[in-house]
Amino acid sequence: PARTPAAGRGAEVLVASNRGPVAYTVGADGALTAKRGGGGLVSGLSAIGPETEAVWVCAALGDGDREAVRRADGELPAADTGGQRVRMLDIPAEVHAAAYNGIANSVLWFVHHMLYQTPLEPSFDTEFRERWAAYEAYNAAFAEALDRAAAPGAAVLIQDYHLALAPGMLRERRPDLRIGHFSHTPWAPPEYFALLPDDIRERLLRGMLGADRAGFLTRRWAAAFVACCTATLETRCAVHHSDGEAPHVVTAPPGQEPHTTQIGVHGLGADAEFLRERAHRPDVDERLTALRAQIGGGAGPERRRTIVRVDRTELSKNIVRGLHAYRRLLADRPEWRERVVHLAFAYPSRQDLAVYRDYTAEVRRVAEEINAAYGTPGWQPVVLHVKDDFARSLAAYRLADVALVNPIRDGMNLVAKEVPVVSDAGCALVLSREAGAHEELGEDALSVNPYDINATADALHAALSMPEEERVGRCARLADAATALPPARWFTEQLTALRG
Ligand code: G6P
Repeated sequence: PARTPAAGRGAEVLVASNRGPVAYTVGADGALTAKRGGGGLVSGLSAIGPETEAVWVCAALGDGDREAVRRADGELPAADTGGQRVRMLDIPAEVHAAAYNGIANSVLWFVHHMLYQTPLEPSFDTEFRERWAAYEAYNAAFAEALDRAAAPGAAVLIQDYHLALAPGMLRERRPDLRIGHFSHTPWAPPEYFALLPDDIRERLLRGMLGADRAGFLTRRWAAAFVACCTATLETRCAVHHSDGEAPHVVTAPPGQEPHTTQIGVHGLGADAEFLRERAHRPDVDERLTALRAQIGGGAGPERRRTIVRVDRTELSKNIVRGLHAYRRLLADRPEWRERVVHLAFAYPSRQDLAVYRDYTAEVRRVAEEINAAYGTPGWQPVVLHVKDDFARSLAAYRLADVALVNPIRDGMNLVAKEVPVVSDAGCALVLSREAGAHEELGEDALSVNPYDINATADALHAALSMPEEERVGRCARLADAATALPPARWFTEQLTALRG
């Protein structure tokens, strides 16, 4: 039942996501250390800045976070969050684990990135239903926290697949709010979405359609979502396409007034100002020197070229096929041996899931294999780094002659947008046509089918061989396209649209 919030209190703008802008670790001495959270969602939202007065509601993700929640008085200390107002929810650890690992990351992420090997997976059984119940409880905890924190008529921007049910749940409690949802992932086509049990598909869509606006990173993902609504809800929803405007989906829940959800597309861009300043600080210069030493070779026009990739060690990022393509390049074009180094940064991610641990081991194995097969005393063909270090990533961006971004499927991929902005000498970009970023960068990148190892090897060769003038020209255009919608504007654009 709807209730009236306490008058005069609460925030006018709220953001909600599973991962927040800060992550805590507890040291042996009991001291808490705060570090910036990882991934595309946090990079994008971090730029909303304290000046919007937005309150960011997120989940406590580990023991450090839980301890920080215990010590904080409501909001986390501003010193830890760069001034951003942050409220962390201490959802019981087993509920969070079942919702995050058991549903969000091993079901919803797999569906939207089309990662299942379908002869074996998925199967939906009683254990799945138990995890689903945790996912509902987790979403309900967010809806309740947002209800408590929101001023009358406030705008609430709920993020990603972890929180697909929260918009509907929040609307039931607070019909006065303006509710937005934003997906940072791709959206599955209807035939693939149909893997999910019928009632779950309907719950997910109805949850998101509880929002006044559902936002996506590209037109392709928005269209897939609308197609899933039509395929799943059939006559229980109506889609309106008015000329030149984003479509609207109208649903009429039984016994209730029809509700309209506007579909929006907001292609999150890179933050040029932040990146360029950050990439020229002393800690990055230091890493640059260390990386140059690891690359080796001479200076000047004959210096060794670098192919750079920076990813979470994520199944959808296609790191292993990227390594195979690099091996193909060395095998088929011996002229590149000793003349190129592949800097592959693959930072651990979602290690609670066995498939991610196996994948991490496979990345390491293939990199070692290439080094054993081709390495010489003065040349290590692959330099693999697995310890997350933002300053070193930026140093690699600066060094890049070629950036390799070859995901199987990706909502956007901010690395593809960040490298051209930061690279010192102008880099070429080898880009999967399945990355959302391809919609904006396809013209000046070298496009690849991420499954085609030989074609990826050919694209790496073309990128390394590109005449300097062409490379610099393309890189400048890539940087322009990549920064068309910087994070702060991406956010205010949505807020304005939501407030209508
Ligand atoms: C993607 C998702 C985000 C997520 C990030 C990092 O960008 O869209 O919601 O936060 O990956 O993944 P993690 O599971 O570590 O939060």
